[in-house]
Amino acid sequence: MSFMPWSEKFVLGIEAIDAQHHWLVDITNRLHDQLESQRHDHVAMREILEGLTDYTMNHFILEEEMFARLDYPESRAHIEEHNAFTRRTIELLLRFEKGEDTVDEDMLEFLQAWLVHHILQVDKAYVPFLKAKGIQ
Ligand SMILES: [Fe+2]
Ligand SMILES: [Fe+2]
Repeated sequence: MSFMPWSEKFVLGIEAIDAQHHWLVDITNRLHDQLESQRHDHVAMREILEGLTDYTMNHFILEEEMFARLDYPESRAHIEEHNAFTRRTIELLLRFEKGEDTVDEDMLEFLQAWLVHHILQVDKAYVPFLKAKGIQ
């Protein structure tokens, strides 16, 4: 059983977005597995953390470009959640690179809770709007 199993409940029905969300859940599991492993491989951990940071930023850009193109009325609050998350992950990455153990159980709990909340509440809210605009 993985730390954060992918579930049908995360599927929003927009293919490109679902694929990226799935990847974010996968990398969360990789981070968890790396933390649990006895090897404490700093390089591998940094790669996963960098991957998470890069990938979330790309994912947010995809969503935010759609919001801008289609004039999504709730974009402001949504983008603020993205920005707060990005600031937090960059801060974790920078502190990690300076040698701090920023990847711990608390960080993983935060990451998991943030993804669940964001996908199921905040992202889910744009689905009817995007679908009405022909996105699939
Ligand atoms: Fe989002
Ligand atoms: Fe998303």
